[in-house]
Amino acid sequence: ATRTPLIAGNWKLHKDCAESVAFASELKAAIPADIDVDVMVAPTFTALHPVCEVVKGSPIAVGAQDMFWEAKGAWTGEISAEMIKSCGCTHVIIGHSERRQFFGETDDTVNAKLKAALAAGLVPVVCIGETDEERQAGKTFEVLETQVKNGFQGMAASELTTVVLAYEPVWAIGTGNTATPEMVQEVHAFLRKLVADSLQKELANGMRILYGGSVKSGNIAELMALEDVDGALVGGASLETESFSGIVRYKR
Ligand code: G3H
Repeated sequence: ATRTPLIAGNWKLHKDCAESVAFASELKAAIPADIDVDVMVAPTFTALHPVCEVVKGSPIAVGAQDMFWEAKGAWTGEISAEMIKSCGCTHVIIGHSERRQFFGETDDTVNAKLKAALAAGLVPVVCIGETDEERQAGKTFEVLETQVKNGFQGMAASELTTVVLAYEPVWAIGTGNTATPEMVQEVHAFLRKLVADSLQKELANGMRILYGGSVKSGNIAELMALEDVDGALVGGASLETESFSGIVRYKR
């Protein structure tokens, strides 16, 4: 299968409007226009529109870090997929472990958001991953299977073709502890087989599965060399031009 890698930077709660715009224009200058991977950055909601304006005409796509599943209505404080799209965004991160841990996100809310994102034509980056406790208890595969099956609940393979899956072991996020290449490949192969068996082989072969958790320019090449790794979701190392463009331009 030919899967174009996706390198995505999740800026989390960093950079105000001015800082985001300045950083985006630095990235635009640092990333070659003919780069052979897909690149996406996810600024905070308030910086989405100006960042989209800055990166126009460059290979850098923009995504939101979260969204709400309703299109409009009395939902104070929420932001819909259509609104995200109207800023110029093409992607949206759904179900990041920080949303699950600290903001009550569940597989059911992930499922509702996924459907709304697809209906709006956004590329969803659906995050899954086990905690340290779950891994220690030998429940990694069980947890991931539940997250995938419930997250994709009620959807046909034909509806899921643009979906990107991001495997982020919670214990590897922001800790400097990257999962070993063996652990990453084992999980990614498991996920691809799970999608093949529960949905469709063709879908599984085409689906991009990203790894996230302490990815940096020093470990990206060995991760990307793994058969079932199709990119990375980068947090900390996506916040500076040198480190993020170093990851994007990893040695193939
Ligand atoms: O979305 C990104 C991940 O949470 C990874 O964060 O690269 O800082 O470990 P990190």
